Amino acid sequence: MIKKILKWTGIGLLVLVVALSVTVAMRQNLKYEAPYPDIALSTDSATLKRGEYLVYGPGHCADCHGKVDMMEAKENGDIVPLIGGYQFNLPVGTVYVPNITPDKETGIGNIETKALARALRYGVKPDGSVVFDFMPFHNTSDADMSAIFSYLKTMQPVKHEVPQSKLNLLGKVVKAFLIKPVGPDGDVPKVVEEDTSVEYGKYLANSVANCRGCHTKRDLMTGAFIGPEFAGGFEMESIVEPTKYKCVTPNLTPDPETGRLAGWTEQAFINRLHGGKAIRHSAMPWGPFKRMSDNNLKAIYRYLQTVKPVHNKVEKTLVEIPA
Ligand code: HEC
Ligand code: HEC
Repeated sequence: MIKKILKWTGIGLLVLVVALSVTVAMRQNLKYEAPYPDIALSTDSATLKRGEYLVYGPGHCADCHGKVDMMEAKENGDIVPLIGGYQFNLPVGTVYVPNITPDKETGIGNIETKALARALRYGVKPDGSVVFDFMPFHNTSDADMSAIFSYLKTMQPVKHEVPQSKLNLLGKVVKAFLIKPVGPDGDVPKVVEEDTSVEYGKYLANSVANCRGCHTKRDLMTGAFIGPEFAGGFEMESIVEPTKYKCVTPNLTPDPETGRLAGWTEQAFINRLHGGKAIRHSAMPWGPFKRMSDNNLKAIYRYLQTVKPVHNKVEKTLVEIPA
């Protein structure tokens, strides 16, 4: 009797496992629908200049898509080729950063701009699959999106094959059931007027420079935001010794006791951001941010003074991982 029950439970479990793996396998190729943003390309010099500024400055595309062995140049904020190849080692597997030069075979030269813009805005790749949510450009304005892609078109195409991302078993399960394309919250603006207002600072910090994305706790599996905004405490591996050190983002909210910026004047903030990297392990794109204008930094500073203060003490931003 017992034997029989065991046998049937065993078969039941087996059927379940098989069914689950089949479902997981089938759901690896899930395709999603999303509208194509209406992004016009331009060769106007002011637009191209704006594009270069966004790509190598606040939008920091270069930090992830830049040539991997050009670390020093990236930290200087230099114009490096955007040939990709950097790998993110995550609990779900390895995600590779693609080549975004206009090379027709290995880059984005053969992909329609509206399909690329859709990937950034709605998290749906040109082939309909989901984009892992590394990039903060869901609410980037039409005008800025257009400047970015107009500029990318003018870059030198570089042939550089980047491997396909590889998910592990956990990653496949997560992809099958938990990851959905992330899109904009609300209507995306056509243009956001550039000035030193809180409103413009909010736009940069949330929708271009990703201050919010790193200075808020995230779920490492899905990328979902799980902590109070800008309160810090998000852990990321050291970019130079990932097995030995990790970095923890400081609290950028205006909490008088635990906020990193407590006591910083606007000028001190601008000077710090223009000062570049102090902790070599840090994943913060200090190089590109060095290129940010005083006025853009003023706007970010002013915005950060208005976010909800959160009491969250981040003791150390660089932590040694016990061996
Ligand atoms: C934090 C790192 C990071 C930053 C910053 C970043 N990217 Fe990406 N980008 C990625 C990763 C990782 C992928 C691949 C995601 C995936 O495969 O799901 C990607 C994918 C893309 C793709 C999709 C290519 C395709 O055909 O699927 C485009 C286009 C792109 N990025 C453009 C940009 C631009 C333009 C910027 C700057 C405005 C930028 N990225 C900034 C990490 C980054
Ligand atoms: C890719 C992740 C990432 C992004 C994006 C990011 N940061 Fe950071 N930030 C970090 C990490 C990690 C640290 C701690 C290590 C360090 O100080 O470099 C940090 C530290 C800081 C510090 C403290 C520096 C000091 O010397 O005390 C400030 C201020 C700061 N970030 C502001 C910003 C602002 C403003 C933005 C957006 C314009 C931003 N960060 C975007 C990861 C990030």
